[in-house]
Amino acid sequence: MCLKEQALKVRENAYAPYSNFKVGAALRTEGGDVYTGCNVENVAYPEGTCAEAGAIAAMVANGQKRLTAIYIVADAPKPVSPCGGCRQKLIEFADGDAQVTMATLDGVEKTMTLGELMPGAFTEEHLENT
Ligand code: THU
Repeated sequence: MCLKEQALKVRENAYAPYSNFKVGAALRTEGGDVYTGCNVENVAYPEGTCAEAGAIAAMVANGQKRLTAIYIVADAPKPVSPCGGCRQKLIEFADGDAQVTMATLDGVEKTMTLGELMPGAFTEEHLENT
């Protein structure tokens, strides 16, 4: 199954009773494995987690740490863009040339690199004097 199909499938399991905005994400590691995640909300709203965070957690739980592509899909009027926090989470485990494909349920897609989405990111290099 391709990333799109996996993201659409996992989206169905999203737990989003508060926003009614279900998101699915599927990422590919540098070794070619695929991990998926969906958003999981909570009655204490800030405790919810994004689909991208779920996919990253699944990857790391399986002992892998580098992703090269991610596909994110939601029922939105325009391709769903990862939030700022998720961009930072992605940067932790991907290079700037990683492909981020944002999509709608209608099949509209937009692909950008992570570097384009997160210019000037705070990275390990900033900690070099510590
Ligand atoms: N959300 C994601 O899971 N990923 C995104 O890229 C954008 C937003 C979730 C968080 C929350 O559960 C819902 O979508 C509405 O913001």
